[in-house]
Amino acid sequence: MIRVLFVCLGNICRSPTAHGVLLARLEEEGLSDQVMVDSAGTADWHTGKAPDPRSQKAALVRGVDISDLQARQVNAADFETFDYILAMDRANYADLQAIHEQQGGTPPKLFLRAFGRSFDEHEVPDPYYGGEAGFRHVLDLIEDACDGLIADIRTRLARSGQ
Ligand code: 4NP
Repeated sequence: MIRVLFVCLGNICRSPTAHGVLLARLEEEGLSDQVMVDSAGTADWHTGKAPDPRSQKAALVRGVDISDLQARQVNAADFETFDYILAMDRANYADLQAIHEQQGGTPPKLFLRAFGRSFDEHEVPDPYYGGEAGFRHVLDLIEDACDGLIADIRTRLARSGQ
């Protein structure tokens, strides 16, 4: 089993979007049984809440229903549990590093956009204070990166003989 955690700030816009998109893609690819997906925020402001309605709508337009997801904060155990911890932007990454260093561990892992193929953008920008176009762009960046991520997951599964 490969475990993937998407991390943003609030866990109500970008990371639940990535969570839903990857789940849908894994289903299409017949990989759902081999990959576990979750998402979390570096902040605890929205714990227990469903994704932002603007993110729900933008995802649904692409055929992905994220209405069932509930926000939670990233925690120390996540660093042990997940094979991929994928930050949406530099601030998320720095926050993850800080949390992990407090525990004395070596910092993980990756930016989601490291798996991107099409856009020359290393971060998924925070859409929270912007308009609908920003939420659509989040979907574009996430869909693109999830294609590359699935290819990477397939390589990992093959290497580990799964
Ligand atoms: P997210 O977006 O990190 O993609 O979930 C945000 C959600 C909420 C806030 C900021 C960003 N906020 O300030 O409450």
